[in-house]
Amino acid sequence: MLLRDVRPDDVDAYVRMRCDPVMMADLGGPLPVDGIAAKVERDVQSAAADTQWIKIIVPDGADPATVAGSVALWTHDLDDGPVSEIGWMVLPEFQGRGLARWAARALLRRAAADGRWGTVHAYPAVTNAASNGVCRSLGFTLLGETSVPFADRVIRSHHWVIDPRADLVD
Ligand SMILES: CC(C)(COP(=O)(O)OP(=O)(O)OC[C@H]1O[C@@H](n2cnc3c(N)ncnc32)[C@H](O)[C@@H]1OP(=O)(O)O)[C@@H](O)C(=O)NCCC(=O)NCCS
Repeated sequence: MLLRDVRPDDVDAYVRMRCDPVMMADLGGPLPVDGIAAKVERDVQSAAADTQWIKIIVPDGADPATVAGSVALWTHDLDDGPVSEIGWMVLPEFQGRGLARWAARALLRRAAADGRWGTVHAYPAVTNAASNGVCRSLGFTLLGETSVPFADRVIRSHHWVIDPRADLVD
């Protein structure tokens, strides 16, 4: 397994992740295909500028064309200041193999070594057992429930936080 930066030719993988009703069931339903190419372009630019880490999960390094999902670490501004957030997606045919946990852990290890991200927050939907399982098994602490704006909707989420330098589980 490996992580690589998002590329312009990842539009198809983004569509399979973000425009599919099953993949997006806990995130308010599928996003329109229309906006995806522009989103990939923005993500490629952010990754190249190193302002966000937006990685594609490749399950087999010997087969680099096959994509299993994505994991991303970014910063956004809240009233109290900037917050680092992590999120992940794994396509249905690759789910249940520990890939989300592996990818999130790999990125958090890099974040710990890099030093700029501080504590990292995650906001999986309260209904998303697998994503909450990723947080729990990596050593995140559950702070409670909150409402999170996402695209044009609001997601009822669990709010988890981790200091990847201190709390990341093997
Ligand atoms: C959520 C998602 C990323 C999980 O990916 P995955 O690769 O199947 O997850 P993993 O195999 O790494 O499992 C992660 C943990 O959750 C647990 N888990 C997996 N599926 C579960 C389920 N249905 N119920 C409860 N726990 C579950 C696993 O046992 C594992 O915990 P462990 O390490 O303690 O054993 C994937 O299902 C997905 O992308 N779903 C659609 C998009 C999405 O919801 N993205 C997240 C937005 S916050």
